[in-house]
Amino acid sequence: GAKGPLAGRTAIVTSGPTHEPIDPVRYIANRSSGRQGHAIAAALARLGADVTLVSGPVSIADPSGVRTIHVERAEEMRVAVESQLPADLAVMVAAVADWRVAGAADQKIKKRHGGGPPTLELAENPDILKTVGHHPQRPKLVVGFAAETQDLDQNALQKLQRKGADLIVANDVSPETGVMGGRRNRVKIVSANGIQDWPDMSKDEVAERLAALIAERLGDA
Ligand code: C5P
Repeated sequence: GAKGPLAGRTAIVTSGPTHEPIDPVRYIANRSSGRQGHAIAAALARLGADVTLVSGPVSIADPSGVRTIHVERAEEMRVAVESQLPADLAVMVAAVADWRVAGAADQKIKKRHGGGPPTLELAENPDILKTVGHHPQRPKLVVGFAAETQDLDQNALQKLQRKGADLIVANDVSPETGVMGGRRNRVKIVSANGIQDWPDMSKDEVAERLAALIAERLGDA
C-alpha cells in the first residue's frame, strides 16, 4: 500500500473551469487552467492519499498517481463529487460557473436576420463546496478556495462560515496578478485560527505546502 502521512486517506479534489452549454456548439466558461487543482491532487497523492480528481475541461494532462473523472458542467461535477463520498478530505479548487443557461437549446441557435440577438436567461448552479461542507457524509477536512478581485479577507472569512469549510485558500485573481491561467500564486490561508499570509510561489509549491498543512490537520483528526 501507499506510504506517507496521508496513507489510507481518501481525497476528492475538483479542478478547472466548468463549461455551461448555451446550445450544442456554444458554452459559457472562465479562465481557470486547472493548474492549481491538478497540482494539489498530485501533491496529496505523493503524501500517500488515494485521490479522485474531478476535472472540468482543461488542456493540461491528468496528474499521475490520481484517478481522474472528466466532466463538463457544474451539475455533472456535483454528481461526480457526491459519488465519491464518504471521503476523508475534500479540496474544492474548481472555478465552477455560478450560473448555467436556463433551458439550453438542443439545436444550434440560428441568427435571426434583422431580428436582433437572443437573450440568455441564467439559472443558479449547485454550490458543490457548500453541498460537501454541509453533507451528512461530510469529510473530516473540507478546503475551499476564494478567488476574489476585492475584499479578499472579508470574503474568505464569510466563505468559511457559509460553505461549512475548515480552510479557505484565498487568492487575488485581479488581471494584473496573472494568477488566473498563470503558473504562480500568492495565497492566504484562512481558518478559525486566523489568517496566514504565504509569499508568492509557484502553484506547485502552493500545492506542496497545502498538502503538508492538510496532513498535519488530519493527523490530529
Ligand atoms: O462562492 P465562490 O465561487 O467564490 O466560492 C469558491 C469556492 O467554492 C471554491 O472552493 C469553489 O471550488 C467552490 N464552488 C463550488 N461550486 C460552486 C461555486 C464555487 O464548489 N458552484
